[in-house]
Amino acid sequence: MTKQRVLSGVQPTGNLHLGNYLGAIRNWVEIQQEYDNFFCVVDLHAITVPHDPKALADNTLTMAALYLACGIDLECSNIFVQSHIKAHSELTWLLNCITPLNWLERMIQFKEKALKQGENVSVGLLDYPVLMAADILLYNADKVPVGEDQKQHLELTRDIAIRFNDKFGKKKEPVLKVPDPLIRQQGARVMSLTDGTKKMSKSDPSELSRINLLDPPDAIKKKIKKCKTDPVKGLAFDDPERPECNNLLTLYQLLSGKTKEEVATECQDMGWGQFKPLLTDAAIAALEPIQNKYQAIMDNQDYLDSVLRDGAAKADEVANATLARVKNALGFLPHP
Ligand code: TYM
Repeated sequence: MTKQRVLSGVQPTGNLHLGNYLGAIRNWVEIQQEYDNFFCVVDLHAITVPHDPKALADNTLTMAALYLACGIDLECSNIFVQSHIKAHSELTWLLNCITPLNWLERMIQFKEKALKQGENVSVGLLDYPVLMAADILLYNADKVPVGEDQKQHLELTRDIAIRFNDKFGKKKEPVLKVPDPLIRQQGARVMSLTDGTKKMSKSDPSELSRINLLDPPDAIKKKIKKCKTDPVKGLAFDDPERPECNNLLTLYQLLSGKTKEEVATECQDMGWGQFKPLLTDAAIAALEPIQNKYQAIMDNQDYLDSVLRDGAAKADEVANATLARVKNALGFLPHP
């Protein structure tokens, strides 16, 4: 039996943080053996907000190396850079022409990001979810493992695929595979360290709000020491009045590998002074092997180049086949 296909990606903007890791990449690693996987560094998405050209290539390589360092296994997974596969841009154009504008205008992330940009909102920012749909649909993905914040974009991807199939597919022969999101309950929404009601985000101006995967131990220690808590003694999950408490306990649970019940029992009588060093040690211990592996990969650029070359070759093949199917369904004249 052929394995189902997984596709997912992260933008190479700034550093990977615990939200990206726990919400997405850790899950990719955990499920990868069951699937045939394509993991993409989505550099075309990274230019939908103002960006620094000098940093883009470096961040793209860093992200690819981090995928490997986190445990992506090339036996069952391909790692590639989105802009290396021309079909992503081309399918985006084709899907643009069948996607109603008002579907994009109601995207929450667009509204949030547009608000931050003020006058400077690009057409690309509005079109971001169509490019994401193209990423997914090109690979006939069955499953897309992401954090909670991407749910709406996944619903849009499904709507675009269904609309395309309705308009241009033949009965019983859909052109595009309709994908399912894979959103895990635990870690799907990691919150900021400085405000437990806001999600941890690369774009938060405060470095103290997030722990990056490449933060050295003293930075992790400082961030946890300064993170927001509350004056209540005894720590418990799932209290809506205590968002920081729930977030920090969840981080501890996921980073230490303990169960929720174990953590609830261990921490029920603790104060923050006792808990914070535990969380610090768990974070440092979880990130240390990733950081060591990352450094070894970055010291071997030839290896990293070869991973991306092989990944691109496999991605190109699958993506071009889908693109040809789509263009045929739309009635384009074949290349002579
Ligand atoms: P990006 O780079 O913003 O986020 C990458 C992944 O990290 C998850 N994530 C979080 N999970 C839990 N808690 C958080 N605080 C948190 N912050 C981010 C995101 O849900 C995501 O899974 N648009 C995508 C990139 C993309 C993509 C795709 C994903 C482009 N094409 C195709 C899947 C399939 C994004 O959010 O990137």
